[in-house]
Amino acid sequence: MKGKFIVLEGIDGSGKTTQINQLAKWLKEQEVIPKNNQIVITREPGGTELGESIRSLLLDTSIKESPNSIAELLLYAADRAQHVNEIIRPSLNNGDWVISDRFCGSTLAYQGYGRKLDINLIKNLESIATQGLSPDITFLLDISVDESMKRRATKQDDRIEKEGKDFLKNVSLGFNRLSEENKWKKLSAIQSKEEITAEIQFEIIKLLKRK
Ligand code: TMP
Repeated sequence: MKGKFIVLEGIDGSGKTTQINQLAKWLKEQEVIPKNNQIVITREPGGTELGESIRSLLLDTSIKESPNSIAELLLYAADRAQHVNEIIRPSLNNGDWVISDRFCGSTLAYQGYGRKLDINLIKNLESIATQGLSPDITFLLDISVDESMKRRATKQDDRIEKEGKDFLKNVSLGFNRLSEENKWKKLSAIQSKEEITAEIQFEIIKLLKRK
């Protein structure tokens, strides 16, 4: 039996990492995954050795010149192609469950709504990179841009975060539109961690009953 592919999306500071760890812990406790299978936690950009190098190229602010926005888009697509082929597809075929911190939705939100690159171009690259693979369920952890900036106040900004408030507002708007268009599960990320965890668990139980 194939595994399930779960994705968490949201602007920075929305608490994706905490919820991913909670979800993995809970799935193990529930014993919903066959004994010989595992839960694979991964992320974009990154997740593979090549992807982690691409991540540095994309986000490391010590590289003086920012990538041109098309070069940036192609690097995210290259990262995804490697991620899908090396980690996600083989794991799912093996019956493992995959939980990814970000996937195609982030490219549409950041490069599409943020950088204003052509959405159809992004979608074409998405189908090349994924070869038709898509998540079983996507959660959007929704917080306001002000809250995101507050939560990240003491952290060092990466190259994308350095773009500032207006850029992030467009990204946030994009995530909300994408969530409606694609029937993602949108959760308010200003609730307590426990409330968000419970909502995610509720949706996963529904997903298990569906298939
Ligand atoms: P994070 O893993 O800490 O969330 O950082 C990843 C950064 O990369 C974040 O600012 C969002 C950005 N990003 C894009 O701009 N496009 C993409 O396709 C992905 C996956 C991430």
